[in-house]
Amino acid sequence: MTAATDNALLHLDQVTRRFDVCGKRAVTAVRNVSLKIRPGEVVGLVGESGSGKSTIGRMAIALLSPTEGQVRFDGRDLASLPPADLRRLRQRVQIIFQDPWGALNPRHTIGRLMEEPLLLHTSLTAEQRREEVIAMAQRMQLGLPLLERYPAQLSGGQLQRVCIGRALATKPDLLVLDEPTSSLDVSVRAGILQLLDTLRRETGVTMLFISHDLETIHALCDRVVVLYLGCVVESGPVEAVFKTPAHPYTQALLSAQLFADPAVRTERQHLQGEIPSPLAAPPGCPFSTRCPLYESRCDAGLPDLLLEGTGVHAARCIRLDPDRFSTPTEAS
Ligand SMILES: Nc1ncnc2c1ncn2[C@@H]1O[C@H](COP(=O)(O)OP(=O)(O)O)[C@@H](O)[C@H]1O
Ligand code: SF4
Ligand SMILES: [Mg+2]
Repeated sequence: MTAATDNALLHLDQVTRRFDVCGKRAVTAVRNVSLKIRPGEVVGLVGESGSGKSTIGRMAIALLSPTEGQVRFDGRDLASLPPADLRRLRQRVQIIFQDPWGALNPRHTIGRLMEEPLLLHTSLTAEQRREEVIAMAQRMQLGLPLLERYPAQLSGGQLQRVCIGRALATKPDLLVLDEPTSSLDVSVRAGILQLLDTLRRETGVTMLFISHDLETIHALCDRVVVLYLGCVVESGPVEAVFKTPAHPYTQALLSAQLFADPAVRTERQHLQGEIPSPLAAPPGCPFSTRCPLYESRCDAGLPDLLLEGTGVHAARCIRLDPDRFSTPTEAS
């Protein structure tokens, strides 16, 4: 399949990922997830810790392969790419991790760290690289004196700007951001998000934005995918999902957060207990152990992911309004 027919830059097609634990039992971290990201889109992936977000992010950039299903980039199955194409792909997709301290060599100056991707992936001259690094620092709103310093001399927010600059240096098509602000002080988070929003508008880079913070997703993303125990439980345009959440888990997540935007109306609900371990996943609906609407038929099997009439908003629960959600999706 080509990008023209698939119309997706990234397509996770019924992807499952299991990990062996202690060589015996397998934990299913991601369960039959289908997800398309079109060029220029910013898609948010939200869920509690352990729900499979990072595993999806790592599969999206070919750091991990799926156990079942396909991950296609620009229409090509990553599992069947020859090594040379895989190397080229690594320039086209970049990832930003939660911890900028762990991502940067502490013995190199910031200038050297920002030059590295240009050295590795371009044939620019030393002078051209220097100009690029200065331009990059300015776009990342990093003062030029910082280029002479070492990572230990910068704040977490400044280091994350260095990581974002490095990731964008080779002009990737897809940026995966795995909780890029969750290790930072609240005071610097807004600045990073503002920067990402500006970069997104200026460069048109496609983003998979992983977060457990719904307000951030609401501010930055076009679409949102809600994950629970490795399953997609709801997905759709941000405005639709935030205004009319259909799944009890999304409703509980939204009600646990206070929103500045009055358009996001939520009734307060308490999310009881913890997300179970995937090793002890309940039968049937993954959310059954915490769901206020649970009934015994929720254990009968994994509910289908059903589409609303608009064809863009989907949810997975047996108690959805049948007049609203009725069409099975390809991921069911
Ligand atoms: N390499 C691994 N080996 C075994 N289990 C793993 C591994 N990576 C992730 N897991 C398990 O898969 C589940 C999902 O993990 P992860 O994708 O990191 O979730 P999240 O990013 O949402 O916190 C967790 O239960 C985690 O313990
Ligand atoms: S299927 Fe049942 S347990 Fe699962 S979310 Fe719906 S009502 Fe709750
Ligand atoms: Mg994670």
